[in-house]
Amino acid sequence: MTLSTYESVYRASVENPEQFWLDAARAVDWVTAPTRALDDSAAPIYRWFPDGELNTCVNAVDRHVAAGHGERTALVYDSAVLGVQEHITYAQLQERVARFAGALAAQGVAKGDRVLLYMPMVAESVIAMLACARIGAVHSVVFGGFAPRELASRIDDSQPVAIVTASGGVEPKRRIEYLPAIEEALHLSEHAPSAVLVHEREGFETTVTEARERASASGGPSWLSWTEAQDGVAPAEPVVVKATDPLYILYTSGTTGKPKGVVRDNGGHAVALTWSMANIYGIGVGDVMWTASDVGWVVGHSYIVYGPLLAGATTVVYEGKPVGTPDAGAFWKRVAEHGVKVLFTAPTALRAIRKADPEGELVQQYDISSLEALFVAGERLDPETYHWAARVLDVPVVDHWWQTETGWAICANPFGIERLPIVPGSPTVPVPGFHVEILDPIGEPLGPGEEGNIAVRLPLPPGTLATLWGNDERFVSSYLSAFPGYYATGDSGYIDENGYVFVMGRTDDVINVSGHRLSTGQMEQIVATHPDVAECAVIGVNDPLKGQRPSGYVVLKTGSQITQEQLAEDLVTMVRSQIGPVADFKDVSVVEALPKTRSGKILRKTMRQMADGEKYVVPSTIEDHSVLEALEAVLAPRK
Ligand code: COA
Ligand code: AMP
Repeated sequence: MTLSTYESVYRASVENPEQFWLDAARAVDWVTAPTRALDDSAAPIYRWFPDGELNTCVNAVDRHVAAGHGERTALVYDSAVLGVQEHITYAQLQERVARFAGALAAQGVAKGDRVLLYMPMVAESVIAMLACARIGAVHSVVFGGFAPRELASRIDDSQPVAIVTASGGVEPKRRIEYLPAIEEALHLSEHAPSAVLVHEREGFETTVTEARERASASGGPSWLSWTEAQDGVAPAEPVVVKATDPLYILYTSGTTGKPKGVVRDNGGHAVALTWSMANIYGIGVGDVMWTASDVGWVVGHSYIVYGPLLAGATTVVYEGKPVGTPDAGAFWKRVAEHGVKVLFTAPTALRAIRKADPEGELVQQYDISSLEALFVAGERLDPETYHWAARVLDVPVVDHWWQTETGWAICANPFGIERLPIVPGSPTVPVPGFHVEILDPIGEPLGPGEEGNIAVRLPLPPGTLATLWGNDERFVSSYLSAFPGYYATGDSGYIDENGYVFVMGRTDDVINVSGHRLSTGQMEQIVATHPDVAECAVIGVNDPLKGQRPSGYVVLKTGSQITQEQLAEDLVTMVRSQIGPVADFKDVSVVEALPKTRSGKILRKTMRQMADGEKYVVPSTIEDHSVLEALEAVLAPRK
């Protein structure tokens, strides 16, 4: 049997991962080249390239300047909300990163120290991330749509020496003031960083001076503007780190209120992302890749910042929305203007554009001939959206499936290796390095077409999570214990007889709202604290635009006089102020009772199936059938 190109690359990756990844590692500039790929001495926790040493910032920036590409554009900052653009060459980026790295060092940030970033979509966010990498500090970026309480929990978990932020973010309907959010978070947190560095932007109310005055009156950290912090400071030289040293922590929602700090190493990350740029996206030196996401998410870390820059390509940092800034042609305008070869976004963005421009008339106004492929991830690409995008753009629309934890795609159509036929509804096949299997609840492998838990056989390839920050035990219990020898993805799905993987949804409390990962368990914990709430369930129901939206069902305490309107207003405010606007929690229904098993477990899955109009099997363990019947009336209209 002759193997396709993809099959032979895939086989090589799973049959001899040691050789495969050592070969891939040659594309990276090492200070000390690794002689070994996998360290399995502490299995099931694995390390990649244990004797390698490098600097990620050098690989993303300096090496391209040294190779004579200093005048190439590294980054285009394009703000649809402010109407400004800035082109930054690799040489300029090197200079700005080194200077800001010097500023961080001057504030006492050293190798291994954490720096928390709370930033909008501006070039300075990329510069701050790379500056951390340059001096071996570990960045932890928090998405701007999270509230101070979420910031505080990340400050306490990662214990940063410094915080880097901006005056605020610009949303279409309003400006988000970041400085009061940082002040409140510092008030809530136990850990106290020593400095807050602020990229000042015009048009925001709170200034660095005001925050500094308040901090000095209360013994808080020193507050410095971006320029003040760099005054008289020498640019920092890159620091050599071990391949296994952490590059960043990125917090993501789990099933509880406490977010998980996914740790990414330096070496495995550089190797995997460099490999993915060529082999998945087909992007190389001089190409333009635009990932319309946010640096606060993993997609932003990997394919706005590190991936394109490691490849010597041009990345676009877009501050705006797919629609409303000012219209649904915003993406196509930028593809044309910047000569984008690969665009990457979330299906929800396409659904928003389609809603505003169903026939794709705005696409016709721009020359998008540079575009070779549209990649999407973050949530399932529904076939209807797939067909629409493929029709109006007339380029391959490639669904690929991954997670914050994996850092790059588990399944994709490996465009740089071979363009496999696209099957709508499937993110195609396992990416080389990921040995994907479908397991039943007790860990037995299932056959073609049978749906079960999607698991990846250990070891995971380079670039995936090394552990959870400061918590190896939670890493093992969250991901490696359910099916010994495997990483449990938390997604369910099946593999068809052609080897195509279909991802159907989560098996836990995680939901995806507009491609943003959220925990319904965390929302329940907040809703349950309302004085009138006896018990509650928050489930993710299908939403035609956002993929899913959180819906809360509440049983009131006996004797409660609160109105449905007041309750909804209270709960929406509570979730918004404790998690942030990004939670998008807006649906609240009062119900008589929640369906439960005899052991008291709320039947959330059955509720979700009812709300989505799916067929459901009433579990034999149900405590009281009449509760389900009563719920039909509340849940059914939400179909
Ligand atoms: N800072 C502060 N607030 C933010 C924010 C940020 N960075 N991002 C979103 N928010 C706020 C919004 O202003 C909104 O607040 P509101 O309830 O007061 O209106 C709320 O969070 C929900 O925002 P969003 O989910 O963006 O919904 P929307 O209705 O404003 O926009 C879409 C809908 C589809 C246009 C938008 O969600 C989108 O562009 N999605 C793509 C997401 C994406 O790229 N994900 C990355 C994964 S690949
Ligand atoms: P995040 O960690 O925010 O990237 O979210 C990861 C989760 O999003 C996965 O576990 C899936 O549930 C979902 N997801 C991401 N990409 C896809 C995709 N292409 N198809 C289906 N689900 C996806």
